[in-house]
Amino acid sequence: MLSNRWFGSFRTFSLQLTPSRILHFSDFIDVFAFLGAYYFVKKCLKTAALLTDTVNAHVLSRLRPYSNEWWMESFGPWAVVTGSSEGIGQAYAYELARRGLNVVLISENERRLRSTQVLLEGRFAVKVEYIVVDFASADQTEVYNRIWEVLEDKDIGLLVNNVGVSYRCPDVLLSISREDLWRLIYVNIGAATMMTHMLLPGMVKQGRGGLVVVSAGSSTQITPQMTVYSATKRYLDYFIQGVAYEYRHSGLTFQCLMPFYVNTRMTGFSDTLTRSRGFFPSAKQYASNAILTLGRASLTTGYFYHTLQLWLAWMLPSGLWMWGSEKLNNALRREAQNRALRRVHKSASDETMVSVAMTPA
Ligand SMILES: NC(=O)c1ccc[n+]([C@@H]2O[C@H](COP(=O)([O-])OP(=O)(O)OC[C@H]3O[C@@H](n4cnc5c(N)ncnc54)[C@H](OP(=O)(O)O)[C@@H]3O)[C@@H](O)[C@H]2O)c1
Repeated sequence: MLSNRWFGSFRTFSLQLTPSRILHFSDFIDVFAFLGAYYFVKKCLKTAALLTDTVNAHVLSRLRPYSNEWWMESFGPWAVVTGSSEGIGQAYAYELARRGLNVVLISENERRLRSTQVLLEGRFAVKVEYIVVDFASADQTEVYNRIWEVLEDKDIGLLVNNVGVSYRCPDVLLSISREDLWRLIYVNIGAATMMTHMLLPGMVKQGRGGLVVVSAGSSTQITPQMTVYSATKRYLDYFIQGVAYEYRHSGLTFQCLMPFYVNTRMTGFSDTLTRSRGFFPSAKQYASNAILTLGRASLTTGYFYHTLQLWLAWMLPSGLWMWGSEKLNNALRREAQNRALRRVHKSASDETMVSVAMTPA
């Protein structure tokens, strides 16, 4: 009834829209009322979709987690995780091995890769291999040729594009060296793009598999003082959503994970962010939550407290978000600088104590 009335008044209004009537006050009221109703319904539908996704990702995934057989059928027998010698990537690889998948780890530091391999093979009855590469290497062709040599013969069902680098601490563009900017581009954008391009054909051919990118909460809005980092993460959001649409009939699972702060080496510049509780989970806490959401949510933070942050981020007007980000990032930079100063003082005083102790009486 109500919608008929609205539609009727809108129709009457449009039919009567002649130049002589165009400024009639009650007509404007009708149009605004119609736009208001449209906006309200759109918001209600969006909120309902958001709540359904959240319940699916954070509640149903816990109540009815997928079995190891499901994991093997959907994403086995091999999974590839980039940036997996520590942090979120290592913890995610651990969760995959726990579900029975063989894992290929890809990172830069061989010692850490080797100890991750030993850890996973020691705990679970799976095979673990690793590839040592620097995704930021000047010879990009060589990087992906080397990776392909190892992956070519493997039946890979899951690619987790986790590798990422950030700023040493938040700062403005001109304080970031060109070398670091290239690293951000090669590692954050290049690795996910090229790895996906490399492994997607095999998955499409088999009609099954999964592709995950690890983006970041800072990509939800423009984030000053982390400008390039958050922009590279925004690329990943668009990239995976675009690919998911292009291959929507392929039977593959696509997911964009958008964590906010996680206590890892990446956030190690700040004492506040390395407290590991609630809003700042450890990599292990984060990955054990995030993995439950694969196959249930195509875009999620992967962690309930971060989803609350994401809602807030979506609601804030962009001006307010940028203002707040700048304040927060300034505070984090000061904290990082003070921390570095404390370290310098401590090592200087340690050296003085050693030289005093060694001075003959
Ligand atoms: N931590 C957070 O608060 C947070 C928040 C949002 C999103 N994220 C995203 O989550 C992902 C994982 O972050 P994280 O916190 O776990 O980072 P992390 O602890 O710093 O670990 C990064 C991993 O990437 C590898 N890596 C870095 N540069 C590399 C390169 N040039 N070539 C090959 N491997 C390289 C590291 O390997 P080596 O040990 O060999 O160097 C390490 O295994 C990133 O994409 C990050 O942007 C993190």
